[in-house]
Order: sequence, then structure tokens, then C-alpha cells
Amino acid sequence: MTLLALRGISREVGLPDGGVLPILTGVDLDVAAGEHVAIVGRSGSGKSTLLNLLGLLDTPTDGEYLLDGEPTGALRARRRARLRGEVFGFVFQQFNLLPRRTAEENVAAPLLYARGRDYLRRRRTAREMLDRVGLGTRGDTVPEKLSGGEQQRVAIARALVRSPRVVLADEPTGALDVETGAQVMALLASAAAEGGAALVTITHDLNVARLADRRYRLDAGRLAPLADPAPTPVVPAPAPVPLAEVHP
Ligand SMILES: Nc1ncnc2c1ncn2[C@@H]1O[C@H](COP(=O)(O)OP(=O)(O)O)[C@@H](O)[C@H]1O
Ligand SMILES: [Mg+2]
Repeated sequence: MTLLALRGISREVGLPDGGVLPILTGVDLDVAAGEHVAIVGRSGSGKSTLLNLLGLLDTPTDGEYLLDGEPTGALRARRRARLRGEVFGFVFQQFNLLPRRTAEENVAAPLLYARGRDYLRRRRTAREMLDRVGLGTRGDTVPEKLSGGEQQRVAIARALVRSPRVVLADEPTGALDVETGAQVMALLASAAAEGGAALVTITHDLNVARLADRRYRLDAGRLAPLADPAPTPVVPAPAPVPLAEVHP
């Protein structure tokens, strides 16, 4: 069942000289419930603009965005804001944690906007989420005392704490070294899947996109399906050295 559907979406911005700059042009995209879709594109191709549209942080200049079959174009500001908080979780390249709050307070923050959760329940839920990303013992730590990979795991816990139906990740590994990035991406994909959330990962890294069910390329504001990558080459294990040669 299609959860998110973009139909002929364009986004332009007005320029000071009165002209218009197209950022996205004629974008069609379907994301089904629980599915992982990756969008690959280089810097400036319109990736963040597309993610902001999906997350109801921005509105298109043309085309239609259907959320669960419902057109979003005519939504009132209040309902847009409510849907944004209920349906989506966000993960950003620079983690965007509150610097003066502990890991647990960061994870609990979105719950302040959810109904029916008193302080103790929010704390308990945040602790459980931190446990799920392997940071159960770091709840009282402030972000600057955590490594980049740990900060992004806190951000993943925060993105999932309200059980969103969609997680939108904008270059989630962009500030991490390759190995940490791969670990964080695997965690993000499995945590989203465990929570039944669809995941849209925006990246410039084809290796990060490998984990997705489907891939698209965004090039100068136009979206097109990307061929499946070749399987990771299997490196043959070295032939065992006969013991006689090791200990003649
Ligand atoms: N509000 C804006 N005004 C002018 N140009 C913009 C605006 N938003 C984005 N752009 C331009 O549109 C292009 C795509 O931006 P963005 O979506 O942030 O790309 P990406 O995330 O792929 O790097 C960039 O060239 C950027 O400078
Ligand atoms: Mg960007």
C-alpha cells in the first residue's frame, strides 16, 4: 500500500532578479509502508529539498503530494504540524541534538508533543529507545561527551521514539567515517524495520544506498530509478596453509 506518493512534484524558488530557479522538476515517487528507499545524488541536486517536502517541512510549487492517499496541498498549518510530528521521524547529517540536554532528554524531547505521557513514562520510553540503539548506559551523557557515531545513534532513538510510520534520513552517515557510517546505517535500517517504519535515506554514497530495497538517483532536480548495484564482490578466503609448512 502506497504511504507516500509524489505526483509531478516541482519546487522552484524566486530569485532577487525576478527569475525562478527550478530545484525539483516533475518528481514522481512512491514509498510503501515499511519499505526502505534510498535517493542518491550529489551535492546541490535537490536531495534536502525533496526530503523537506516529504516531511511536510516545505510545500511544492507544482504537483501533488499524497500522504496515505490524502492530498497534503490543502492541509491547514496546524494539521500539517501535527502530521509532521506523528508520521515522521527525522535524522540529519549533523545529528542536531540539543547540546545542553542529556542523551535521554534528547530522545524524550519529541514525547513532549505526544499526548498522554507523563514525565516518568517519557523517561522510561526514552531509556528503552536508548537501550535499543545500544546506549542504555549513556542516558545521562551530554552530546559533546559522545562520539559522532554515538550521537547519531541518539538521534536515531529520538527519530523512532514516537513510533513514526516514516523515518526521513538526510545524509545520516555524512559526518561519520566510513566504518562508523556503515554501522550506523545498518542500525538505522534495522531499527526502522523493527519499528515497522518506512525509511527514506538520502545520501551521496552508493554504498549506503545498498541497504535499501529500492534506489533512485536525483540529478539536477530530476528523479529516476537507479539500477540495482552489483552484489558486493565475495573475496575468496585465503587457502589454508598446511600445518606442515607453518611448523616444518
Ligand atoms: N531557498 C532557496 N533559495 C535559493 N536556492 C536554493 C534554495 N534552497 C535550495 N536552493 C538551491 O537548490 C539546490 C538544491 O539544494 P538542496 O536541496 O539543499 O541540495 P542537496 O541537499 O542535494 O545538496 C542547491 O543549488 C541550492 O543552493
Ligand atoms: Mg542536502
